[in-house]
Amino acid sequence: MDFLSQPDFRIAIGSDHAGFALKQAVLAFLKEKGIPVEDYGTYSEERVDYPDFGARVAKAVAAGEFPAGILICGTGIGMSITANKVPGIRAALCTSTYMSEMSRRHNNANILCMGGRVLSAEEALPIVDTWLRTPFEGGRHQKRLEKIQQLTQQVRQSNDD
Ligand code: RB5
Repeated sequence: MDFLSQPDFRIAIGSDHAGFALKQAVLAFLKEKGIPVEDYGTYSEERVDYPDFGARVAKAVAAGEFPAGILICGTGIGMSITANKVPGIRAALCTSTYMSEMSRRHNNANILCMGGRVLSAEEALPIVDTWLRTPFEGGRHQKRLEKIQQLTQQVRQSNDD
């Protein structure tokens, strides 16, 4: 099922200073569509550290408080690295609607990452819209996601040994 078809769908969003302006554009877009959103900050262009905001959104999504999240920094790279450290998160850095579509169809991405210094709002909003409207295909892709999940467990296990 695509995110927008889920009953009571709501989304978490966060950025650093470099992603703040694009976050405001995405917030306005979500508001216009009537999609409930929780803004985890940052709330200005004052310099901050992206892992602080990435961790908050990723933990809230992993805890099941939100089915999906959006994270924006300068390139989207730092946010995706951060979010993917949290077990249960599949964060996808997307620079095109093709990537955001595939990140849902094949990867069942639950966090969309974008770069505020890479994309204009005109480029980013269709990426968000596509991401929210595209379902996961399951099937052979589910098996591959299970292999990623197993890898997380293997690494945890070997750290404990
Ligand atoms: C901030 O200057 C920048 O490093 C950050 O927004 C992000 O692009 C990191 O990946």
